[in-house]
Amino acid sequence: MNIRCLGYVGVESPVTKQWEEFGPDVLGLGIADPGSSDTVYLRMDDRHHRLAIRPGERDRLLHLGWDVGDAEAFARAVDGLDRAGIAHTEGTDEECADRKVLRMTSFSDPVGFRHELFYGQLLLPPASPGEARTAFVTGDQGMGHAVVVVPDLKQSEQFFVDRMGFKKSDEIYDWLTLMFFHCNSRHHSLAMTEMSGLRGLHHIMLEAQDLDAVGIAYDLCLEREIPLSMTLGRHSNDRMLSFYVRTPSGFDVEYGWGGLQVDEQTWKVGHYQKGDIWGHKFVAQSPPGALERAAPA
Ligand SMILES: [Fe+2]
Repeated sequence: MNIRCLGYVGVESPVTKQWEEFGPDVLGLGIADPGSSDTVYLRMDDRHHRLAIRPGERDRLLHLGWDVGDAEAFARAVDGLDRAGIAHTEGTDEECADRKVLRMTSFSDPVGFRHELFYGQLLLPPASPGEARTAFVTGDQGMGHAVVVVPDLKQSEQFFVDRMGFKKSDEIYDWLTLMFFHCNSRHHSLAMTEMSGLRGLHHIMLEAQDLDAVGIAYDLCLEREIPLSMTLGRHSNDRMLSFYVRTPSGFDVEYGWGGLQVDEQTWKVGHYQKGDIWGHKFVAQSPPGALERAAPA
């Protein structure tokens, strides 16, 4: 499916207004001009937005947006979906305008998560209003990673690898089982863990270019008594030095620095029995509050 990177994430939330403060003040994100939309568009770099918070009745993941690069790659991806027998729907003009992309098509995975393949996301020139305070690692590595909760690891692994073309990075067998997948040099753009009967967005990871940005955001959370989910720590597999903060919309943001990059030519899948080298102690409610009951298989 030639996915290049995670381009954007969309969530629904009844508390979009809180993001207008939480995004910029705590996470160092920018805010794009929403035009006539009620959506809060949060910026990390030169893209119009990376995270969209759309008003709605409940906290839930709406879509993961995967950048395929250009029109030719888009046509090949669509062809691949057709040959694989995966039903997909071309994005309407309204949807493309909402995502700020040239073209988009969407499909559902076995859990019901909506994936959008797109190309041509709107770029804003330097010094545009609403720029992010923090410099993030994006570019070819995309906006970061998303970790989803699925009811059946095997089923989702098969879809992500065989149908979407992700490559396995590694696996962790700690108190939870986690599987990690890459589509570029970022150690993982997508990961998943199994929680029986549940589905939803566990967290997204944003990687700062500067370690101090992580420390500053950590201090802000402590000073404002914003609930952390996990303390500072370093993961064993992607070596991300990070902490986890509970967002207003129930899922977590992993705010990190120093993530490992994989070289596809030499990478070998490994597995771990511990997810962390140090830290990442639980300090708040878990699991995240944005999980839903999965439909029975
Ligand atoms: Fe993560």
